[in-house]
Amino acid sequence: MIHPETIDKIMDATRIEEVVGEFVNLKKRGVNLIGLCPFHNEKTPSFTVSPPKGIYKCFGCGKGGNAVNFLMDQEHFSYPEALKYLAAKYNIEVEEEKPTPEQQQALDEKESLFNLNAFAQKYFQEQLHQNEEGKAIGLSYLKERGFSLEVIQKFGLGYCLNKWDEFSRHAQKNGYKKEYLVKTSLSKSKDQQLYDTFRGRIMFPIHNLSGRVLGFGGRIMTSEKNKPKYINSAESEIYHKSKALYGLFFAKSAVASSDNCYLVEGYTDVISLFQAGIENVIATSGTALSTDQIRLIRRYTSNVTLLFDGDAAGLKAAFRGIDLILEEGLNVRVVIFPEGEDPDSFAQSKRPLEVKEFIESNARDFISLKTDLLLEETSNDPIKKAGLIKEIAQTISLIPDPIARTLYVQKCSDTMQVDEKLLFAEINKMRRKNFQQKRKQTHAETDEHAWVNAEEGIAEKQTPLPLEENFQEIEIIRILLKYGSEELTLEVENEDKRMEEIIVRVMDFIVDDLEEDKITFENEACREIFTYFLTARQNQSLPDEQVFFQHESENIRKLAIDLLTTPYSLSDNWEERHRIYVKKENENLRENVYRVLYAFKLKKLEKMIGENQEKIKKADNDEELMPLLENERNLKNTRSRFAKELDRVVTK
Ligand code: GTP
Ligand code: MN
Repeated sequence: MIHPETIDKIMDATRIEEVVGEFVNLKKRGVNLIGLCPFHNEKTPSFTVSPPKGIYKCFGCGKGGNAVNFLMDQEHFSYPEALKYLAAKYNIEVEEEKPTPEQQQALDEKESLFNLNAFAQKYFQEQLHQNEEGKAIGLSYLKERGFSLEVIQKFGLGYCLNKWDEFSRHAQKNGYKKEYLVKTSLSKSKDQQLYDTFRGRIMFPIHNLSGRVLGFGGRIMTSEKNKPKYINSAESEIYHKSKALYGLFFAKSAVASSDNCYLVEGYTDVISLFQAGIENVIATSGTALSTDQIRLIRRYTSNVTLLFDGDAAGLKAAFRGIDLILEEGLNVRVVIFPEGEDPDSFAQSKRPLEVKEFIESNARDFISLKTDLLLEETSNDPIKKAGLIKEIAQTISLIPDPIARTLYVQKCSDTMQVDEKLLFAEINKMRRKNFQQKRKQTHAETDEHAWVNAEEGIAEKQTPLPLEENFQEIEIIRILLKYGSEELTLEVENEDKRMEEIIVRVMDFIVDDLEEDKITFENEACREIFTYFLTARQNQSLPDEQVFFQHESENIRKLAIDLLTTPYSLSDNWEERHRIYVKKENENLRENVYRVLYAFKLKKLEKMIGENQEKIKKADNDEELMPLLENERNLKNTRSRFAKELDRVVTK
């Protein structure tokens, strides 16, 4: 746990533009900076950073927040990780509270597993290069397959002798505990005795992002039919298969600089391509691609190229990968290798330049891949063609970015000779269905994504528009946040029934008015923000907007950021073209305050009238009915008084 005072120190030192600037190329635009949004694909910048407010906001995809939120989104950090990153950046010492004994034990255990893997990796490597069996069986095999000593060293390959418990005994002699040998699955236990899991296998160490060994893959050297070709370390406290990517440690800088990542199936594919000079290559090592792995890739690039065998299994894996990758908002292309070749064999049989050329000229998007492959089968059968279009539409429907979706719809419409409008309709239907399914799945977990995208009727992960039914109260909050401290000149009747001018702060006027009519907010975030203004009203102070930007509730943070960064913002021109509107809103502040206030109160009244009418319908005797009717008359009178007053101030 990081001390709250330290968190304050970190937040004070943090300059949003410096943090974002490490990931996004920012250009000055007035008081703000703009750049290309790192969270969705765009060609013209709509990603805006406001140094005075300490926040960022993308008008394209709606993402927004402070420096901590940015790091959590961009680097997939947890909250404490993001704070620690900032602390390191700004040289602030983080005194964490001491971990509990259980936490300490878990930390110690992880450390022990890492240490043992490091020891094992070094040992297996030594065996490969120095031991007679290692050299004769392991190293000669690797050389025969065409691997250079350089890549063999680089990837830390090794060899585990084909002896019953050679490694297990050696490790124990060096003080490594039985318990950890079993937990890393380097050893297996039988009748209290340990024996080596990877006997007689070439060892491929699997690294995490900082280069520590998480586990191993081992390739068999004998031709025993009943044994698997590869075995891998089992899941452990440090090795989670769905979160590791083979080769990423070596590939990450090339992935970032080339802004593309080649994804292959096997260890040998990675190494052979690397040797051919293609360094931005990684593998899933024997498991199906997972969402976590895609998010790991997204830290470095938003472009993935799948390199798969042309056999049925390869294609199936490719199709599944395509859907997952698109769903995470990344771009995907596919290269299918000629029948009987995998990237490894292909790279070994061609010159490096040919390999590069082949990959570059054969990378295709999923639409042309699917159409080419499936159109052969469907030939001219209209029913089969319709099925294919549906399948492509289903894939397009997974893409979160509406612009990318549109581009693919156009492309599909072109290649398949089908009406664009029809495709859009189909895709929107699918998106609604996907969304409802997801909604059902996550319903119990969280409602923080419940904001509905008004334009599409589909909930996106982040959408700037709050629920329409709460529009009026959200407008109140917007006015409070933006103009709360400004002053209004109002004409009021004094005790002598004469008109008199008074000057009042916007927030005091609104808070008093709502308090007087005992009006409450429906939306929880609005209600909470309003309580800050209530308190501030009592203390004659003003809530600091940073309180909302850094609020622990995500809904409050989002609402405040969205409201303070809408294009209609006046205090700082987010966008040149909104200036005129903004100027108007500010000039007619008094009218706007009235308008928003009355609109809110009218909406509330409508609701109360509706509820009252429900009661009237249910009433079954006069005794119940009379007060309800009386109530209805009062409510309607108030409504027309409000409407008249509104009309008077607004049209004056
Ligand atoms: P080589 O035969 O050495 O060229 O291996 P490869 O990388 O071409 O293997 P293949 O294309 O058969 O499989 C791709 C990847 O799937 C491998 O790198 C392994 O990670 C995994 N794999 C292959 N065979 C097995 C197996 O029998 N068991 C397990 N668990 N994984 C396997
Ligand atoms: Mn192979």
